Amino acid sequence: VKVEYLNYEVMADRLWELTDDDLFEKAADGGLSPEDYGEFYVRDSESLLEAAERQGYAWPFACRGGACTNCAVAVVEGEMPSPSSHILPKELHDRGIRLSCIVAPETDAKIVYNVKNLPAVQDLLL
Ligand code: FES
Repeated sequence: VKVEYLNYEVMADRLWELTDDDLFEKAADGGLSPEDYGEFYVRDSESLLEAAERQGYAWPFACRGGACTNCAVAVVEGEMPSPSSHILPKELHDRGIRLSCIVAPETDAKIVYNVKNLPAVQDLLL
């Protein structure tokens, strides 16, 4: 499946919100570097994090086992189911937050990575 990705740090700098309808259009027109915005394909056997790393991107992670939330991403469009047991608070999961080290999208998807510093995520994890 194909993933279009955007770095949350860029959003924070430019005051873009996850709820902006035209978020990925703004990103596409934003003159961003390939580290911050672009697309790649995820293979069947890979997690989203592994697919990003195969492209040469250094997305945040720590445990690689679904236990720390450093690798959190926000799914803006597409399906990315979680395993039945995961450590994300329900409220974050309901908002489309996923752990990129343990799952990958099942459909083409738009993903914001680096969301560990998203205020909503911080509030619920602290
Ligand atoms: Fe720790 Fe993904 S790297 S939960």
